[in-house]
Amino acid sequence: MYRSNTCGALRASHIGSEVVLSGWVHKLRDKGFVVWVDLRDRYGITQLVFDEERTPLELLEKARELGRETVIQAKGQVIERTSKNPNIPTGEIEVLVSELTILNKSLLPPFTIEDETDGGEDIRMKYRYLDIRRNPVKNNLIFRSKVTMAVRKYLSDQGFIDVETPYLIKSTPEGARDFVVPSRMNEGQFYALPQSPQTFKQLLMVGGMDKYFQIVKCFRDEDLRADRQPEFTQIDCEMAFVEQEDILNTFEGLTKHLLKEIKGVEVEEFPRMTFDDAMRLYGNDKPDIRFGMQFGELNAVAQHKDFNVFNTAELVVGIAVPGAAEYTRKEIDALVDWVKRPQVGAKGMVYVKCNGDGTFKSSVDKFYDQEDLAKWAKVTGAKPGDLICMLSGKTNETRAQLSALRMELATRLGLRKPDEFAPLWVVDFPLLELDEETGAYHAMHHPFTSPKPGQLELLETDPGAVKANAYDLVLNGNEIGGGSIRIHDKQVQATMFKHLGFTPEEAKAQFGFLMDAFQYGAPPHGGIAFGLDRLVAILGGQETIRDFIAFPKNNSGRDVMIDAPATIDEEQLKELHLKLDL
Ligand code: AMO
Repeated sequence: MYRSNTCGALRASHIGSEVVLSGWVHKLRDKGFVVWVDLRDRYGITQLVFDEERTPLELLEKARELGRETVIQAKGQVIERTSKNPNIPTGEIEVLVSELTILNKSLLPPFTIEDETDGGEDIRMKYRYLDIRRNPVKNNLIFRSKVTMAVRKYLSDQGFIDVETPYLIKSTPEGARDFVVPSRMNEGQFYALPQSPQTFKQLLMVGGMDKYFQIVKCFRDEDLRADRQPEFTQIDCEMAFVEQEDILNTFEGLTKHLLKEIKGVEVEEFPRMTFDDAMRLYGNDKPDIRFGMQFGELNAVAQHKDFNVFNTAELVVGIAVPGAAEYTRKEIDALVDWVKRPQVGAKGMVYVKCNGDGTFKSSVDKFYDQEDLAKWAKVTGAKPGDLICMLSGKTNETRAQLSALRMELATRLGLRKPDEFAPLWVVDFPLLELDEETGAYHAMHHPFTSPKPGQLELLETDPGAVKANAYDLVLNGNEIGGGSIRIHDKQVQATMFKHLGFTPEEAKAQFGFLMDAFQYGAPPHGGIAFGLDRLVAILGGQETIRDFIAFPKNNSGRDVMIDAPATIDEEQLKELHLKLDL
């Protein structure tokens, strides 16, 4: 028996009992006549004690030699501590050791295994298994497990069947590049790893499975950010015989359940916002609605004077920043510099200070009078003490810039509270998105999404105006899920492919299997997929998903611990019929 109890289990009620503990040497304090060892495992820390009076000298010497992270087994009696530690659950007791076995030695770890470690990101990633011993990482993984278990239980209780779909497949377009796997047995041919199980879950609906879910790895070769990994996990779901309303209700149910079960937070009915409103009011299709600062469009009240910057702009738009009228000139200049950074890309920023006495002071006083500025305050909802920040230019660009500024200011003002949860359904997405560079349309969600009823004809005349039966679930300014009602008719799917620039031959070659299946009684169906990593991170009050993944990739898509990706040898290349031309 390696252990009778874990290192987090013993309490005052255990005093007097004989126990066996196993774990890692966390810390050692040697006072000469007494040696204390903090023994750590997943469950906590228990203090072991060896002293001159009660411990044989040989054992005391052995304890004294223990290095950090040595794996040991200790047998002894639970005794009351003379100086108790109220900060840990086992702080009332210690174990007076009578037998000590060294199970394995450890090299000196390259960083301290403490909550606040001295190790930088790179070194911690290289030795991720040591990082996982630290509470913040360990707790995130335990938290993730709690969420996935709750998801599985909830969906299973609702009648969803967990079905696994293959990883070696053919491209499923979700808007990223594919990771491909060469086939040894089929010369010159490649599998693609799924960007999502989209087509398979639709085929499961054709197969009559009715309610499917899977917690599944997806692979996308795209640029990485704090909320993106090349391999990530989805809670992927699909239902047959449903309309959009059914899907929204079902998965609002799941999300509410998780908020309650995991965070103890009860949320009323989730608000819904159309994509158009989200863009108009927040400049963003995933608005953080934990705080206000809605956009006010100012063209009508700002384009009647001689200020050419506004007069020539497609959109003049502003936000009221609460309590920021007192910003100094220097602080405002810094904000202007912030919006002019290439990552944001604004040309400049106009501001209006709304003074406490009801007067205004702006950077464009030369052009506008108090009456004009009062109108701007009205449109942006600014109150005395607020600062109005205004940007202008092309509509989409300006909205994106002001949205970035809104989020930055909210962060600085502490308005993005991690323990507050504001879910939001964004609905009525456009079906297609225009690629400004190529002039071609591509599917905003994916090519299997159905247009809103009665809008199919509009595809011919005004493709950009067609709205889709597509929805996103947004939580605290992050897209945590997205889905749609699907096309289930071969002809409609063929029309869709045509508008996406596929020739009938190309569509058949790539998606013939799906269109064939649609001819055998495909039921109406739809679904959604949650980004599990994002969901877990946000429930955990953070936005960096890496911290909630056991073995994540770095920003260059590398696993620095196992050193992947890596080259393969000539022999393997040959077997795969590959020739490198580097
Ligand atoms: P979508 O592409 O919107 O939809 O993906 C669903 C959710 O997955 C998460 N996500 C990611 N998380 C981490 N890293 C990434 N690289 C990454 N990419 C996406 C997001 C997103 O909301 N098949 C459809 C779903 C459907 O229509 O049912 C799909 O994959 O949280």
